[in-house]
Amino acid sequence: MHNVVFITGDGIGPEITQAVQQILKAAGAPINWIPAKAGMGAYRELGNPLPDETVELIDKHKVALKGPLETPVGGGFRSINVTLRQRFNLYSNIRPAKSLPGINSPFTHVDMVIFRENTQGLYIGQERWVDKEEHHAESIAVVTREASERIIHAAFQYAQKHGYKKVAAVHKANILKLTTGLFLNIAREIAPQYPDVEFRDVIVDNMAMQMVMRPEQFDVVVTTNLFGDILSDLASGLVGGLGLTGSANIGDKHAMFEAVHGSAPDIAGQKKANPSALLFSSLMMLDYLGEHETSKKIHAAVLDVLKYNLDACTPDIGGKGDTFTYADAICLKL
Ligand code: NAI
Ligand code: MG
Repeated sequence: MHNVVFITGDGIGPEITQAVQQILKAAGAPINWIPAKAGMGAYRELGNPLPDETVELIDKHKVALKGPLETPVGGGFRSINVTLRQRFNLYSNIRPAKSLPGINSPFTHVDMVIFRENTQGLYIGQERWVDKEEHHAESIAVVTREASERIIHAAFQYAQKHGYKKVAAVHKANILKLTTGLFLNIAREIAPQYPDVEFRDVIVDNMAMQMVMRPEQFDVVVTTNLFGDILSDLASGLVGGLGLTGSANIGDKHAMFEAVHGSAPDIAGQKKANPSALLFSSLMMLDYLGEHETSKKIHAAVLDVLKYNLDACTPDIGGKGDTFTYADAICLKL
């Protein structure tokens, strides 16, 4: 049995986490769920979006599966997602986007994995007003050699381990010469240590265009925090939307698994949310825990349902069903 801290999250969180728990149970995954609270729900209930108890539980059990957390826009508290990634030094944010059978999308051969540096960049949110009138704001981006080296090595090692032939480093070193320039130079330095992996670098604006024109040219992509955030939503769009892409936040000692998407307030409470994204995140978790057979079994069941029973699936991918008819169809396959 593996102890896994389980955070339901906000918005569509309760629906998709329930569906995922149901599917993992049907597959016989040996997980002992340890419930914990975080996000807007915790803030409303306890006046604290990240109770100490939650941090202690993650620290103790090392692995967490987390529903999306709502972060107030503009003012309010700091993102709990970002806080957790930094607190546990979850420096690799791994976001695969792969074309799936049965899904109507303009592309059929996308198979890319984005490695997003998860602790630095502009995402540290170190901002300040320059003037009293609050007409002039500044934001600091941080890039260090140490953090860049570890994410870039992680990307190359992942490529080798999973049979991907290419790694692309994405940057804006023509303009942000120090921060993303440092990141690029380190990637260039490290690439020759992996002679069996083809390396190239791409400037981020061109990358956005390349991804929507010829996404099949990319295998593993490694980039800084904000670019990785944006490009991973783009990659989700290439394979059928945010309802379909999972993600892992991995450090040396802890790991937290969550969907790429957020709390989707526009569809919350309506059973419209696609549980696949969080389910795929939970399969990354099972692989991380060494439960490869269970992970494969669930993956096969999902592909089967997408291929032969799309009607049972959620509306975002052309289904006529809801979160739970989809989950039930997967459980039936299992
Ligand atoms: P979002 O990812 O929640 O939603 C974007 C669009 O995708 C919406 O139209 C939504 O309905 C759709 N969508 C997302 N997940 C879906 C699913 N599973 N099935 C079907 N459709 C789905 O992004 P948005 O609206 O920008 O952010 C909402 C909140 O989520 C914000 O408070 C934001 O801070 C938070 N957020 C949290 C994340 C996390 O917990 N890791 C990641 C991204 C955003
Ligand atoms: Mg994002």
